[in-house]
Amino acid sequence: MRIDILTLFPEMCCEVLRESVIGRARERGCVEINCRNIRDYTLDKHNRVDDSPYGGGTGMIMQVQPIYDCYESLCRDTGTRPHLIYLTPQGKTLTQRRVVELSKLDNIALLCGHYEGIDERVIEEIVDEEISIGDFVLTGGELAACIIADSVVRIIPGAIGDEASALTDSFQDNLLAPPVYTRPAEFRGWRVPDVLLSGNFAEIAKWQDNEAYERTKRLRPDLLNE
Ligand code: ADE
Repeated sequence: MRIDILTLFPEMCCEVLRESVIGRARERGCVEINCRNIRDYTLDKHNRVDDSPYGGGTGMIMQVQPIYDCYESLCRDTGTRPHLIYLTPQGKTLTQRRVVELSKLDNIALLCGHYEGIDERVIEEIVDEEISIGDFVLTGGELAACIIADSVVRIIPGAIGDEASALTDSFQDNLLAPPVYTRPAEFRGWRVPDVLLSGNFAEIAKWQDNEAYERTKRLRPDLLNE
């Protein structure tokens, strides 16, 4: 898989996506992640990428030309038209189901907005999908792009060392994950549930299924009705 991030602040994403699991997945060749600076594509002689809104109003709007040329250059370089996702609070809220679907695509591009938004013609003409990471407003799409890249890459086969762990995630089968414990078996009198120490794997699996269900019912009952 290849992920391209179109942004005015490439360092914000590069730094985050170099670390830990995602960094190792990139080193192993599970995924290629590149950042493109939209400003590199402006034709404005002062390097501007934004302007004030037609019709008046506060704030600045990212212009169509640098974004369009940035995306077209990506298409030329890759010989394909990546699925272009615009990160915006007006998009559909990201779910694990959508993450799984996105992880099956060969090429995705993540477009990060800034300021008061982007010229609507970008959305009308080249954006394939708008995604929000929740009902709140960020200063720009970069952190949202990192969240999408992180959640998508970690379920690409081979990206996580322990393949099984991606399958026992929260939201798999619309259930939260059961509680987990590690050594010591007792700390300040706080004990790990006996069943986990029993060695009886059928009983352990039954306990985990039940805990996952009870936890979901208590914390996220909405998931059980989907
Ligand atoms: N850009 C600003 N706020 C955002 C959000 N909640 N989700 C995705 N992109 C955003």
